Amino acid sequence: MIHCVCRSINTRLVDEAAAHGARSPACVMKYCGKRFNCGQCIPSIAERLECVVGTSTDCATNMPKRDEIAGDIPLAAE
Ligand code: FES
Repeated sequence: MIHCVCRSINTRLVDEAAAHGARSPACVMKYCGKRFNCGQCIPSIAERLECVVGTSTDCATNMPKRDEIAGDIPLAAE
């Protein structure tokens, strides 16, 4: 499922960001090296994060950016 049409962020990317410490939609964008455009995806990303990691809103302090991780995965849609 695509959560962010503007930045092509799908469920897999949100889950990947969460696994690396993202705990808010802004953290997911930071992890992906993107910025919000329209912001309409914020509720959808927040809902997915809530399903995956609960309601915490703080990013892990050592959360990497996606492009800093070895074995980078392409941003293809599901
Ligand atoms: S849908 Fe995510 S910034 Fe527009």
